[in-house]
Amino acid sequence: MIGKGRAAWGRYVLGPALGVMSMTGVALAQDAGGDAALVARGRYLATAADCAACHTTPHGGRPFAGGYGIASPLGSIYAANITPSKVAGIGAYTEAQFGRAVREGIRGDGARLYPAMPYTSYARLTDADIHALYVYFMQEVRPVDERPPATHLPFPFNLRFSMMVWNALYLDNTRFAPDPAKSAEVNRGAYLAIGLGHCDTCHTPRNVMMAEIGGKELGGASLGAWIAPNITPDPVSGIGNWSSDDLFRYLKTGDVPGKAQAAGPMAEAIEHSFQYLTDDDLKAIVAYVRQVPALRDAADSRPRESFGMASGREAALRGVSGTLDNGEKIFSGDCAACHQPGGQGSRDSYYPQLFHNTATGASTPDNLIAAIVEGVDRTVGGQHVFMPGFSHGSYVDELSDQDVADVGNYVLTHFGNPAVKISAADVASIRHGGPKPLLARVGGYIVPALAGAVVVLLALVGLVVARRRRG
Ligand code: HEC
Ligand code: HEC
Ligand code: HEC
Repeated sequence: MIGKGRAAWGRYVLGPALGVMSMTGVALAQDAGGDAALVARGRYLATAADCAACHTTPHGGRPFAGGYGIASPLGSIYAANITPSKVAGIGAYTEAQFGRAVREGIRGDGARLYPAMPYTSYARLTDADIHALYVYFMQEVRPVDERPPATHLPFPFNLRFSMMVWNALYLDNTRFAPDPAKSAEVNRGAYLAIGLGHCDTCHTPRNVMMAEIGGKELGGASLGAWIAPNITPDPVSGIGNWSSDDLFRYLKTGDVPGKAQAAGPMAEAIEHSFQYLTDDDLKAIVAYVRQVPALRDAADSRPRESFGMASGREAALRGVSGTLDNGEKIFSGDCAACHQPGGQGSRDSYYPQLFHNTATGASTPDNLIAAIVEGVDRTVGGQHVFMPGFSHGSYVDELSDQDVADVGNYVLTHFGNPAVKISAADVASIRHGGPKPLLARVGGYIVPALAGAVVVLLALVGLVVARRRRG
């Protein structure tokens, strides 16, 4: 179950004092109350940038002690210990070295980091924010004197300097600069949404070299088992029909009745990071998202939250005519207890309605399948929202691929987009793609990225050697 092992995040809960803080590069830190305010701001930034997602291992790892391995077919890339330990962490880093590691991918000893560390996103961080982060890590994070496992990739991927080639292609080493044509709020939202690598890392599609595809910002992307949908302001393919309050509520809680619930990687992002952002910062993200260029997908005919019948009872009656098929039997045995026979959910909407729900109205069934197979698990504001996954090891029935396809098709025809059909093979493929922790998605693109860098490097070496021979 995704996100379950990260309960340790409670430790990063922010005090209400942070409510007054803004995240963009204002000189607030220097003016307000010296180090305590600076440390608090650094802590807030570390939460907003989700440093712990990689640098703290799930299931009770010590904060920022590293050791989480990003699986790639070439071997694991382990996140570093970034506690202020002088022997195992970054205790000996100067602020300048820290800034270079976070924004340029250059380690204290000069070696290049693999782009599994998202320095390409953090390159936009302002000097003031790097300062606050540095002070927080040095003054408040507890040193842990244990080294995480070393990363050993096979030759030629162990040539860290080949990352210089990759950086030349893909690292845009410029700090965030506000766009004077946009409001201060939209600019702050851009800094949070894109600068801290928040929304685009998942919602913008990428090419095989790991670069985000230009002109497709927030246009939707597959992350393996889950799809991060199109969240541009397009009224058909995106979220143009959502109000600003809907979007705010979704980011803060993960639940907008009659529209959508957050599961999978989105639930993780809300649980560990977004719910702790100040209301002003969340509103800024909303303002930013609502003004990116709208993108329409030709396959979409209606907004995904518009499908299904408002009258659940009628829907249920329609299904009961004739003999019960497998999907209907499973729905009534395994789903209806919570979502009700008519799919209308519970009155308090703790159990959501299945019509007017983006998971059942989308033009791809991925998130519906993933929700059935993996369930939903999200702790927000101290409240645990939980749907069991119908897979091996769960307390509920284990459903076969065919069973999931049957019940999924029942849900689609009665409550969702009836044009979408699920096969057992679709279910098998989603099962294979998940459950994946946040980091696993990096594995998919790290290999082509490294391979590209190495190929370019070897080509350069070859050129030089050939020239020497000739000369
Ligand atoms: C998506 C995963 C991920 C996130 C998020 C992340 N890091 Fe990293 N970081 C890594 C990995 C992996 C490495 C080691 C890469 C390597 O060995 O080349 C690393 C290395 C580092 C290093 C180099 C340490 C050393 O001496 O080896 C620093 C400093 C660092 N990260 C700081 C941060 C900070 C600060 C944040 C939040 C602002 C952050 N990281 C967020 C994955 C991440
Ligand atoms: C770690 C990956 C990840 C990140 C980061 C992320 N999202 Fe998502 N997002 C998803 C996935 C996956 C879904 C689908 C969740 C589901 O249906 O249960 C989603 C769903 C959504 C939805 C609901 C869309 C719908 O039709 O149901 C909105 C709105 C949204 N994200 C906005 C954002 C914004 C704004 C940000 C940045 C502040 C963001 N997301 C960051 C992965 C991510
Ligand atoms: C034990 C109660 C329970 C059972 C049984 C259950 N669900 Fe759920 N379901 C939930 C809860 C709780 C949520 C999440 C609500 C939230 O996020 O606020 C949910 C969410 C969903 C969603 C939305 C997921 C998303 O990512 O947007 C779908 C679709 C869904 N359930 C379908 C099903 C189907 C189909 C079955 C039967 C195979 C089923 N559920 C069985 C409790 C249940």
